[in-house]
Amino acid sequence: MNALPVRLLVLEDDSSLSEILCESLSERGHVPVAARAIDEALDLLARTDFEVALLDLMLPDGSGLDVLRRVVEEDLPMESIVLTGYATVDTALQAMKLGAYDYLTKPARVEELEVLVQKAAEKARLRRENLSLRVRLERQEPLPGLVTQDSEMRTLLETVERLAITDLPVLVTGETGTGKELVARALHQRSPRSTQAFVAINCGAVPETLIESELFGYEKGAFTGAVTRKPGLFEVADRGVLFLDEVGDISAQVQVKILRALETKEFYRVGGMRSVRSDVRVVAATNKDLREEVASGRFRQDLYYRLNGVTLSLPPLRERPHDVSLLAHHFLERFAPGKRLSRRAVEALQAHAWPGNVRELQMTMQRAAALCQQDSIGAEDLALRREPARDWTGAATRAGLTLDQLENQYIQAVLAANEGHRGRTARALGLDPKTLYNKLGAARPRSKSPTAPEGDATRD
Ligand SMILES: Nc1ncnc2c1ncn2[C@@H]1O[C@H](COP(=O)(O)OP(=O)(O)OP(=O)(O)O)[C@@H](O)[C@H]1O
Ligand SMILES: [Mg+2]
Repeated sequence: MNALPVRLLVLEDDSSLSEILCESLSERGHVPVAARAIDEALDLLARTDFEVALLDLMLPDGSGLDVLRRVVEEDLPMESIVLTGYATVDTALQAMKLGAYDYLTKPARVEELEVLVQKAAEKARLRRENLSLRVRLERQEPLPGLVTQDSEMRTLLETVERLAITDLPVLVTGETGTGKELVARALHQRSPRSTQAFVAINCGAVPETLIESELFGYEKGAFTGAVTRKPGLFEVADRGVLFLDEVGDISAQVQVKILRALETKEFYRVGGMRSVRSDVRVVAATNKDLREEVASGRFRQDLYYRLNGVTLSLPPLRERPHDVSLLAHHFLERFAPGKRLSRRAVEALQAHAWPGNVRELQMTMQRAAALCQQDSIGAEDLALRREPARDWTGAATRAGLTLDQLENQYIQAVLAANEGHRGRTARALGLDPKTLYNKLGAARPRSKSPTAPEGDATRD
């Protein structure tokens, strides 16, 4: 059969069965990725686009139905085939009701499996094409999932649109939590490669010894433990996008191999003698300064140029003053629809430094939504503990703040950092508490003269 190769997730805890399945699938030119437990399967689903999942039902850490539910709930453009023992046909029928494409009773015959996989993959491809068409038609303007009002971000997103249709490698830089992965996914979604996989690997999180076999796969017997051939992510991402996250953490040895794979569009599996072709577009991300890494010899210059067709630098949240409130409301709508943010809360959010950027803001809103019992979320519900912003001048200039506004923001930030405790805030600011009370005038109904000079409010 000269059908297209199919990317499969094979969830099966019985290692010999998993081996047989993976081997017969790769013999037919498919790309199976094995998972032995639910956790592992869910993790793979989050990082990799598959066309078909083969799901065993009874696993040590739960039921394969949980994976099926995730696929259905998130409306992933893939199809699931359930593997079942004779005794669990009832469960298989339940799986069909949940949205499985079909089921196979073990032991499955290879021909039967192949036919089913092909049919399921065809259906999955149609769904994916519809989906990418919909994404492209629906929202011509903003990129999916990306909320912003900041002019620098908007310009950057326009660049993403223009880059999407090219095949240039893109390097996304920015502090942690600024949205690098979101931008990488948006680029894929808007590109002609959107009908193929987006495959992500966090190079900083994979142990150095494993990263080569993750990227390039290995042959059966390449090392102890390599009981079956495993495809690498370069294969899984063939014709799609490979997202190399935290690319600055890759060792020199693996850097060479990536460079070669990108230059020749070919690579060898670990322990392999035959080269494998793969056509991937690489999007890399880092929160390090890669040029500095190059200068200090930790990152290869040739690979840097290879990855850096274009650099997209995401500004930190503290330099996007209009985005803080917009994103806060966006997340609130998601986590607690109907709840409001008090004015003080918005001020505290705006004054915060956001070292964790959008991710930190998202967590803050999620926590506040969960903990706050009232309809209106106050500044204290946000529990912002960190240090106030350090780069005040930069942010203030960009936001065009007056001195009074800047002073007010700074006071609010220190107040928020001290959980609304005015005595401690006054001490932190080096102010007499009365002076602070005066400066906060509006918030104190009994204060008659908010602008009174120091020492004048003693009777208040
Ligand atoms: N503009 C945005 N609109 C909506 N959500 C956003 C935006 N930017 C980031 N997020 C959300 O914030 C979280 C962090 O974003 P993302 O993972 O893309 O950041 P990152 O730059 O890759 O971070 P890290 O460097 O830590 O890997 C995600 O949950 C993402 O959905
Ligand atoms: Mg990331």
